[in-house]
Amino acid sequence: MGPNGAGKTTLLETILGLLKPKRGTVKIFGHNMRRKAQFIRKMCSYLPQDFMKDSDEPFLVKDVVAMGIASNRDFGKLREEDWRMVYEALELVGMLKFSERPIGKLSGGQQQKVMLARALVRKPKLLLLDEPFSSLDKDSRRSISESLLPYLVKNGCTVIMVSHDLTFRPAVCDLVIRMESGRIVEVAET
Ligand SMILES: Nc1ncnc2c1ncn2[C@@H]1O[C@H](COP(=O)(O)OP(=O)(O)OP(=O)(O)O)[C@@H](O)[C@H]1O
Ligand SMILES: [Mg+2]
Repeated sequence: MGPNGAGKTTLLETILGLLKPKRGTVKIFGHNMRRKAQFIRKMCSYLPQDFMKDSDEPFLVKDVVAMGIASNRDFGKLREEDWRMVYEALELVGMLKFSERPIGKLSGGQQQKVMLARALVRKPKLLLLDEPFSSLDKDSRRSISESLLPYLVKNGCTVIMVSHDLTFRPAVCDLVIRMESGRIVEVAET
């Protein structure tokens, strides 16, 4: 948590190795991110804050989600089993019925759910979510924070989520990290 400009997105992108730390090293599950970026990224998923697609974006919803797996497959080639996972991920976020629609023609909240499915389909061990609720209605926020996130955590996924909205703090949340002006100012156990 933290005000606009506190450095939350910067921290997530530094963890993932998209930004280079000025000093220090990032270790994920004990692995040095700089040395093993390719290997570690396969275990990570990232849902960025600015997820909106242009309205003329031609990719279908199912293809956008499939891209989440393609980067982990040789030559990006998907197997039948992979497509089953694509539909499973869409089902998890309640977007299965939109799978044949072009992503650009969906509403902001619907696009956000599809991007969440794209993050989930990789079955990550580390999931980074940057304000995943920003465009979602109350029911969707509740269902993601009360059932989807606890389900992931129970199955061994570590989730780091940026959120302004503590009302929807998942029950499984065990640390709240507060940032201000580019620094971590508080780490509180809940
Ligand atoms: N590529 C960049 N080059 C220079 N400064 C940057 C860059 N990206 C972000 N910043 C600056 O770093 C600070 C932290 O930005 P960051 O996007 O991490 O904030 P945030 O906590 O995610 O804010 P918000 O709640 O608005 O998403 C801001 O002052 C921003 O202007
Ligand atoms: Mg941000």
